[in-house]
Amino acid sequence: MAAEPESTSSRAERSEAERSGEGSSKLPLGGFTEDPPDLSSSPAAPLGMTAAAVVRLEDVHKIYHTGEVEVHAVRGVSLEIGKGEFVAFMGSSGSGKSTLMNILGCLDRPSRGHYLLDGVDVSGLGRDQLADIRNGKLGFVFQSFNLLARTSARENVELPLLYGQHRLTSAELAARADKVLAAVGLSGREDHHPSQLSGGQQQRVAIARALINEPEVVLADEPTGNLDSRTSVEIMGIFQELNDRGITIIMVTHEPDIASYARRNIVMRDGLVQYDSPVKQRLSAQEQARKLNEQVEVETPA
Ligand SMILES: Nc1ncnc2c1ncn2[C@@H]1O[C@H](COP(=O)(O)OP(=O)(O)OP(=O)(O)O)[C@@H](O)[C@H]1O
Ligand SMILES: [Mg+2]
Repeated sequence: MAAEPESTSSRAERSEAERSGEGSSKLPLGGFTEDPPDLSSSPAAPLGMTAAAVVRLEDVHKIYHTGEVEVHAVRGVSLEIGKGEFVAFMGSSGSGKSTLMNILGCLDRPSRGHYLLDGVDVSGLGRDQLADIRNGKLGFVFQSFNLLARTSARENVELPLLYGQHRLTSAELAARADKVLAAVGLSGREDHHPSQLSGGQQQRVAIARALINEPEVVLADEPTGNLDSRTSVEIMGIFQELNDRGITIIMVTHEPDIASYARRNIVMRDGLVQYDSPVKQRLSAQEQARKLNEQVEVETPA
């Protein structure tokens, strides 16, 4: 997916922003900069607030044609996701979650209907234009981490910046990757290869890679699907922190407890939205991690 080159123009624009200092103020995590960005002016948009919709789907359909068979995977979905929301998509296998995520992530186009990303209708754009939008606005995290095996954590994180022209020296690239790795708690692991890292650490590298382009939206398809419950809580902690800093998070999960870390849950059924509502009793990953630690202390008294 990320293997498509970014256009020179959008990269050049961003490099310009970086040189002028604008880029650094957008860096997403506290560990990045001395002055964390002031996000007080862009709080999480409550449900139903349409002013700052990052994502707007209008009667979106997706029909797959494989040989003689037609699969109507998404059957008319309309919804909005505001800036700063944290949404979890749920629903049974085959209900269309990944299909919808692929459309949201500009990896695929709707067969019918419209997708507006930041107010721009991207439903009719070509492959190259979609790739530009992906590289400029979106970060991806997958269930299977999708890291390059024989490559260090640092190089994996640098990867999205290597496409197109970034005008950074290799030392600057490495410094930037190391900052993002530090922000997800991986200082000291920069030179480790994926096989030398735990599953949770590998997923952190993948999150760092998703963040290196300073995306507006992070899309994650079952990011905890291959992780134990403790590690899943850690990953949700990173997502909640990113979200607290204004990054919009859209995630797919099969696990109701993982969905409770989000602010809003959308349940899909047969290619349609069956249920869409705010999370009433939101879990705090920090709190859950503390409880897990207390349990361990009780189970193994000194
Ligand atoms: N590339 C494709 N070609 C043809 N059919 C597809 C393709 N991708 C998905 N489908 C079909 O579309 C429907 C929705 O699939 P999708 O992958 O979106 O489901 P999902 O909700 O993500 O399921 P899961 O929870 O198992 O990941 C399914 O019937 C699936 O078989
Ligand atoms: Mg899926």
